[in-house]
Amino acid sequence: MLFNYYFFSYILFFLNLQRILKGQDLSGVLPASVAKLPYIIFLDLWANYLNGTIPKEWASTKLEVLSVGINRLSGPIPEYLGNITSLIYLTLENNMFSGEVPASLGKLANLVTLVLNTNNLTGSIPAELSHLPKLKHIRLSSNNFVGKLPSFSSLTNLQILEIQGSGFEGPIPSGISLLKNLTELRISDLNGEGSDFPQLGHMTEMTRLMLRSCNISGKIPTDILQMSHLQIL
Ligand SMILES: *[C@@H]1O[C@H](CO)[C@@H](O)[C@H](O)[C@H]1NC(C)=O
Ligand SMILES: *[C@@H]1O[C@H](CO)[C@@H](O)[C@H](O)[C@H]1NC(C)=O
Ligand SMILES: *[C@@H]1O[C@H](CO)[C@@H](O)[C@H](O)[C@H]1NC(C)=O
Ligand SMILES: *[C@@H]1O[C@H](CO)[C@@H](O)[C@H](O)[C@H]1NC(C)=O
Ligand SMILES: *[C@@H]1O[C@H](CO)[C@@H](O)[C@H](O)[C@H]1NC(C)=O
Repeated sequence: MLFNYYFFSYILFFLNLQRILKGQDLSGVLPASVAKLPYIIFLDLWANYLNGTIPKEWASTKLEVLSVGINRLSGPIPEYLGNITSLIYLTLENNMFSGEVPASLGKLANLVTLVLNTNNLTGSIPAELSHLPKLKHIRLSSNNFVGKLPSFSSLTNLQILEIQGSGFEGPIPSGISLLKNLTELRISDLNGEGSDFPQLGHMTEMTRLMLRSCNISGKIPTDILQMSHLQIL
């Protein structure tokens, strides 16, 4: 498919972008020319065959939603994504991004949702990410991160935390009990050191709690009975 500025302008003007570019078998690279659309805030290219990386020209856009999940993007996550400070929702899931998560993502002060599942990311999570004031959803599953599982304890607005099979080592950090607003917590396949069942009983909004293959020992505390909305344990 030939991507160019006129093609994009045309469909943006006449059609609903939210529906038109998802799952369309689009191939080739992401077009730098998106950056010439001064008003674009929503770009969803979910489930195509796009390769290469996110063009550096996009750093100057005012995108609020960027979804490029299920494509063939590769290389490191570009540092300049941190320049798109308007971003609220960012999903890079199911691509072939590799290397470390850039600390520059810590500049995304409006970010509510960050999904990095199913890539080949390594290293640790940069400390800068633990200061994103609005972050509510973070998903890091199926990667090759190293080191101890971070506690994310300063992300007090977190509602969904998903870290399954992402390479981290245990134990489940005790700081996780500070995340009072969690509604969904999924951690699995931690290597190494174990822990007691974490203190979560006061997370009364919890609906889905999964702690599989985390080398947990001891008793299950009865205070989880306070999770009156719990659907899945
Ligand atoms: C993207 O895929 C096309 C084939 O669809 C290939 O010719 C091109 O080299 C690939 N580009 C990158 C940057 O991987
Ligand atoms: C990102 O922002 C930095 C600092 O403002 C700037 O130096 C850099 O050129 C920007 N990157 C891109 C690709 O626009
Ligand atoms: C993931 O990255 C590692 C190096 O960091 C490399 O050895 C491995 O082949 C990569 N895996 C895939 C599926 O690309
Ligand atoms: C948690 O949720 C409550 C109710 O939705 C909200 O008022 C509060 O700001 C949230 N954040 C923290 C840190 O408690
Ligand atoms: C589980 O944790 C204990 C104690 O921290 C440790 O001795 C043991 O090796 C761990 N088991 C595995 C399979 O890693």
